[in-house]
Amino acid sequence: MTYALAFLDDRFTNPDEADILTVHALHYATAVFEGIRVYDGRAFKLAEHVERLLRSALVIGLQPDLDADSCAVVLEEMIMRSDLRNAYLRPVMFQGGVDLGVHAPSNKTRFGALIWDWPTVFGESAMQKGISLTTQVPYRRPPPSCFPTEAKSSAGYLTGAINRRHAAEAGFDDALMLTHDGFVAEASGANIFAFHSGTLLTPRPSGILDGITRQTVMAHLPEGLTCRECDLDLSTLLEADEVFLTGTAYEIMPVRAIDGTRFQPGPQTRLIAEIYQTLTCAD
Ligand SMILES: Cc1ncc(COP(=O)(O)O)c(C=O)c1O
Repeated sequence: MTYALAFLDDRFTNPDEADILTVHALHYATAVFEGIRVYDGRAFKLAEHVERLLRSALVIGLQPDLDADSCAVVLEEMIMRSDLRNAYLRPVMFQGGVDLGVHAPSNKTRFGALIWDWPTVFGESAMQKGISLTTQVPYRRPPPSCFPTEAKSSAGYLTGAINRRHAAEAGFDDALMLTHDGFVAEASGANIFAFHSGTLLTPRPSGILDGITRQTVMAHLPEGLTCRECDLDLSTLLEADEVFLTGTAYEIMPVRAIDGTRFQPGPQTRLIAEIYQTLTCAD
């Protein structure tokens, strides 16, 4: 396909100088990515993230020519070359250009990655004080029958990005989204847990991202604590003694408010955060 002219930002230009415009993923969201935390120079759960990246790529029909081992080698080398100790790695696989047909099998799958210094997602004090969530956002999560919800895909982030903007404009830190049928789903970049009547509750991993942090927490619960995956009603969540979010970037993040209901960051959340912190140091 030959393009005659391009316009980008503020000027007319030769299409070769605006090649981002011919990237299939920009138009049709044919992209998947990962977020990986680096603690003390080591990528936490690297194998799990690389495996999910490749699985997500296959789910949305990308054809990466890179396998898990070569992907991990590149990411390890990025950490080494950057010389960062506490960082965030963002590998991405996407359908490149130049065919802008919706079905464009001639476009190659491309791979890229960025690394940057990472302090915290909501500031240091949020890890103690907790963050505020609102359910008063425009979009619910689509059901798995309507969308490849098991992939960590760029398309999946559109609802999160719009909802998060609404939350921020209303003075909240993040959006708490519901499933298509009205149960509690997840925040824009994290899974949710509630400590309720002595048990930890979390939404079933259907229509949400089954986070690697979520799985890590469930595999390393404090002694005597059990966790139940369920269809979590918002009313049950609002009665919980403690609520926290889990995610690569959020780590174990206490929730201090959902809409008008307030929570105290409590001992169960602190214990789980301590266990998680120990794991990030040991991996
Ligand atoms: C929508 C959503 N849910 C959950 C998570 C948590 O996933 P993980 O623990 O693998 O980072 C993330 C973060 O990537 C996310 O974006």
